[in-house]
Amino acid sequence: MHPEVLIIGGGVIGLSIARELHKQGVKRIALIDKGRCGEEASWAAAGMLTPQVEVDEPGAFFDICCTSRDLYPAFADQLLDETGIDIELDRTGTLYLAFSDDDLSEIHKRFEWQSKAGLAIENLSANEVQHLEPSASQNVREALFFPNDWQVENRKLISALKYYADINGIDIRENTQVKKLIVQGTRVVGAETSDIQITADITVLATGALTSLIKLGQFDMPFDVEPVHGQIIAFRPAENLVKHVICSSSGYIVPRMDGRILAGSTSKKVGFDKSVSESAALELREMACELVPALADLEIADQWAGLRPCSLDGLPVLGSVNDIESLFIATAHYRNGILLAPLTAKLVTEKLVNGADSEYFTTFGADRFRPRSVSTGS
Ligand code: FAD
Ligand code: GLY
Repeated sequence: MHPEVLIIGGGVIGLSIARELHKQGVKRIALIDKGRCGEEASWAAAGMLTPQVEVDEPGAFFDICCTSRDLYPAFADQLLDETGIDIELDRTGTLYLAFSDDDLSEIHKRFEWQSKAGLAIENLSANEVQHLEPSASQNVREALFFPNDWQVENRKLISALKYYADINGIDIRENTQVKKLIVQGTRVVGAETSDIQITADITVLATGALTSLIKLGQFDMPFDVEPVHGQIIAFRPAENLVKHVICSSSGYIVPRMDGRILAGSTSKKVGFDKSVSESAALELREMACELVPALADLEIADQWAGLRPCSLDGLPVLGSVNDIESLFIATAHYRNGILLAPLTAKLVTEKLVNGADSEYFTTFGADRFRPRSVSTGS
């Protein structure tokens, strides 16, 4: 089959794009993954949809994150209708706890710029925190509450997106690793693995942390994506201890609907290694107990790691590449790929189906790094 669109990478980004293209009428879509879909960063994530906590200043990145977050209620409802899978969008809200003088100055600054921008944000006293989240540490001095910063069960999201693809005729090929994109003149005409070539009208690259390993014809990709290793631990309390996503300057806690409490995360550049360590487990446990002291009584029930895809400036790479036709890049969503999936899918689809440009393709385009001509060779 010669697909209209070939998507390389079956994480949350590639699968969301496949679904949106299908919903907008693209008939022949193929998606290739080197392993099984959704088993890399998108599986390892904490599922936080928390731009108001995680982004430190107003601007295009904050805007794209908030816009994508606001798509989640409809995204979750539609996926439930389409697949019967509940992605467990939890809209209880997020707390950001302040313990030190530095934390207080940080939350006051955040309160000021976000309330000026008209966003939902509340500054809580220590007593109000105890009332809202009785499990929170008594050492909390103040907190911010973000009623619109939520979380989702990212593993269920992946299952729903994969199931959507399966039941709608999207051609998924797993265990198929792309080595290079095939370039003819100035056009990408498909992709090559160690033993096959797949041609397509348009190729979308959604390969997360491994993007820089793929060649563009005989050249390197004209931008870099580095893996940033992150670890999470999980507790399984006998009863629900925590109601909200709770963050601080040193980490976060995410209570899941199945009773688990996740605590994350570490952040290190260690290449493509995905192993976990005892020292990280201890560090995360200590951080989690500072936020919720009752966790000290619990065993660590699980631990895992994943590789965040990070560009040179830490922002997504979204758009086409200078002088290269029929190629679209959607990668480097770093710490926010779950959050950014619905809007990424919408923007990419509007471009590929209707030719609609977005200012985000300039702001986050690949050409911001080192524009250069890659117009020959295959
Ligand atoms: P991936 O999920 O990594 O998918 C890329 C896919 O491409 C993989 O399946 C891979 O096998 C495939 N692939 C790669 N190379 C090739 C090739 N050559 N040929 C074929 N297939 C290929 N984000 C949030 O929004 N909220 C969070 O709370 C959050 N928490 C996180 C916590 C941790 C510990 C980590 C590690 C990440 C977290 N993230 C979070 C970030 C988020 O997980 C990523 O930004 C997101 O999953 C990226 O999605 P992706 O589809 O681009 O990449
Ligand atoms: N966004 C949470 C993390 O990357 O750990």
